Amino acid sequence: MSDTWWRGAAIYQVYPRSFADGDGDGVGDLAGLRERLPYLKDLGINAIWLTPWYPSPMADGGYDVADYRDIEPAIGTLAEAETFIGEAHGLGIRVIIDVVPNHTSTASAWFQEALRDRSKRDRFWFRDEPNDWRSIFGGPAWTQVADGQWYLHLFDPGQPDYNWDNPEVRQEFHDVLRFWFDRGADGIRVDSAALLVKSATAYEDLDGVHDIYRGWRRVADEYDDRILVGEVWLPDQERFARYLRPDELHTAFNFDFLACPWEPAALRASISLTLSTHASVGAPPTWVLSNHDVARVVTRYGRADTSWDHADRRDGVPADLELGRRRARAAALLAMALPGGVYVYQGEELGLPEVDDIPDRLRQDPMWTRSGHTVPGRDGCRVPLPWSGDAPPFGFGPGVGEPWLPQPPEWKELTAEAQAGDPASMLTLYRTALRLRRDRLGDGSLTWLDLRPDVLAFTRDTRVVCVVNLGPDPVRLPPHSAVLLASGPTGDGLLPCDTAVWLEP
Ligand code: NOJ
Repeated sequence: MSDTWWRGAAIYQVYPRSFADGDGDGVGDLAGLRERLPYLKDLGINAIWLTPWYPSPMADGGYDVADYRDIEPAIGTLAEAETFIGEAHGLGIRVIIDVVPNHTSTASAWFQEALRDRSKRDRFWFRDEPNDWRSIFGGPAWTQVADGQWYLHLFDPGQPDYNWDNPEVRQEFHDVLRFWFDRGADGIRVDSAALLVKSATAYEDLDGVHDIYRGWRRVADEYDDRILVGEVWLPDQERFARYLRPDELHTAFNFDFLACPWEPAALRASISLTLSTHASVGAPPTWVLSNHDVARVVTRYGRADTSWDHADRRDGVPADLELGRRRARAAALLAMALPGGVYVYQGEELGLPEVDDIPDRLRQDPMWTRSGHTVPGRDGCRVPLPWSGDAPPFGFGPGVGEPWLPQPPEWKELTAEAQAGDPASMLTLYRTALRLRRDRLGDGSLTWLDLRPDVLAFTRDTRVVCVVNLGPDPVRLPPHSAVLLASGPTGDGLLPCDTAVWLEP
C-alpha cells in the first residue's frame, strides 16, 4: 500500500558539517548525528534531509561532489551511512539525501578523465570560446584549462556543469538514485533542479528539463514510498508547478513563502498562491522559513526590510533580534499550521541568529572569494550548533578541535541544554508545536477567516484554528474552547502584535 507520509511531513534539515562532531576534529560527522538522533526523535520530526555528505574538496560546502557513491571521510564511511539510515528508520525517522545533478567536482573521475582526454569532454560543457554568462557566485561562468578550452560552471570553478544532452549523464544519475534507494534512502532532494538543460543562450527552466524528472520519477516508482524533492527557485508559480505534475517531482521547497516579507497582505497572497498552484497539479505545498543558503529567520525578521532576495542578501544589516525572535516564533506556528509539509533548518528550533562577525580569514563560502570579498555569503547561517555548556564548542564536539566556524560566546543562552527545560524557549515551542502537528495538522486544506486586514486567520480541515496578529494592536481571539499553543502571551483573550495562536474551536 502506498504511504503518503511526505504529504504532511515535518522535515529537519541537517547540514552535516555543523550539526554535531563525534570525533573531535571540529567538523560535524555521522558519529555526531547518530548520537543526537534521540534529540531529533524527541523534537517530533518525521524525516531528516541531509545536505551533501559525499567525498568533496569542499569548494562549495560539499555541493562539489567528487563521488556520488561514497561518503566524505571527514563525515564518515559508506557503512556508517547505511547504519545511520537503519537507526533513523528504527526511530521512525525517514532519510532524504541530497543529489547534485547540475554539476560535479573538478576532482570527480569523469572530469579528471575529460581533462586528460578531449574525446571524453562531451559529458561537460567544454567550448573553444566562452560566452558572457556570469557565475551565480560572481565572476565569469567559464574557466580555461591547460589546452586552451573552457568549461562551464554556473557556480564555483570547482563545480563543472554536466551536459544533460549526453545519454551517459542521464544513465549515471538513474544509477545513483538506485544506489541510494537500495541503501534505504526515503527521498532525494534535487539540487538546482531547474538548471540542468541548457541551450546556447539560456539555462534556467528550459522545457527539456521535465523529461529528466519523468525519468527520475520512473526510477523512484520502482521502489515503495520514495520521494523526489526539488530545489526550484522560480518566481513564476505556474512554471514552478510544472515540476510537480503527477509524473515528475513529489514536492519542492516553497521559496516564495521564505522570501515573503513579514507583512499580512503579502503573506496571505503568498499562501493563497501557493495553495492554488499546488492544487492545480495535486501536489502538497511545503513551508520553508530558512535553510543553509539564506540568513537566519530571527535576523531576517528583525531587520527593517524583512523580505529575502538572493541578489541582495543584506549581510550585516542591523537587526532587532528581540523583535525578530518574536516574529520567528509566530512564523513557526503559522508555517506548521498550514496544509502540507514543513521544513525546519537545524538551529531554527533554537532561535539562532545569523552570525555576522565571522573573521574574514575564516570565511569559507565561495561567494566571499568569488565576489572579490564584497559578499560575506552563507557562513553566518552555517555556524556549528550549540548543544550544551557555557563556552565554545558548546558540546558541538568532545572539545578537542575548534569548530570549523567560531561560535559566538553569547550562544550559551541558546544551547539545546539551556532551552530544554524552559517553557518559554524556542526549543520548547518547536517541540510542542511539532508534537501537536503530528496528530492534528499536515496535509489537507484550510478556510480563511476574515478577522482584520492585519490578522491572518484560518481553520484547518482538522479543526484547528490558527490566528496570527501582524498588526500593531492586540486582536480579540475568535470563540474557542481551548488554546492549544501560543507563541506569546494571550491573557484576557487578546493576541498581541507579532504573536500566533492555535485554538480548538
Ligand atoms: C543550492 C544549494 O542549496 C547551495 O548551497 C549550493 O551552493 C548550490 N545549489 C550549488 O550546488
